[in-house]
Amino acid sequence: MWIKFVMVPILAAGALPAQSGGDPANGKLIFEGKGNCISCHRIKGNGSRFGPDLSEIGARTPEQLQTSILDPDAEIAPANRIYRVVSKNGTTTVGRLLNEDTFSVQMIDKTERLRSFQKADLRDYGFEAHSPMPSFKDKLTAQEVADVVAYLSTFKPPPGARGRGGRGPAAPAPH
Ligand code: HEC
Repeated sequence: MWIKFVMVPILAAGALPAQSGGDPANGKLIFEGKGNCISCHRIKGNGSRFGPDLSEIGARTPEQLQTSILDPDAEIAPANRIYRVVSKNGTTTVGRLLNEDTFSVQMIDKTERLRSFQKADLRDYGFEAHSPMPSFKDKLTAQEVADVVAYLSTFKPPPGARGRGGRGPAAPAPH
């Protein structure tokens, strides 16, 4: 039944003039090709789990999406912060923090493997201040960025999903 609601914005995006001059179809090509966003992001079950799943990212305004692409360090939602551990022998592992207690840390690494570490075995652990996402300022043209933003804007959350992931506008990163 929810499929009906999900389909509406997708069909609407195809039927109406593209938002802010972007072409969602070309945005999809850039997302999966030139931008290689798919190597870090997942949309509707397709892509990597390293970065946040963007299946409902259309809840963000086009301005917020553009900032995420051009200046990834500007705003990082707390749930998206990247965790980093350094073992006593110097091996660094980055990924998404799943759980942390007094003695151990569990995370998903870049290759999507579940990893568990004993804090006693670590030299250092904590959140990264910078986003691992590169800025696309010099990699994509303004038109290409607008196309990707138009593509991402088609992925609206289904009604009633608000608050499920606690995803409001991204909180400003601490300075
Ligand atoms: C090297 C991996 C990597 C690549 C490549 C990458 N991203 Fe990201 N992206 C991330 C990570 C990690 C985050 C979470 C931290 C942050 O917000 O910067 C993120 C955050 C985002 C966000 C904000 C998500 C949110 O919930 O706030 C958007 C939108 C986004 N990326 C879009 C893109 C697009 C579009 C591309 C391709 C043009 C791209 N990303 C390429 C890793 C990547």
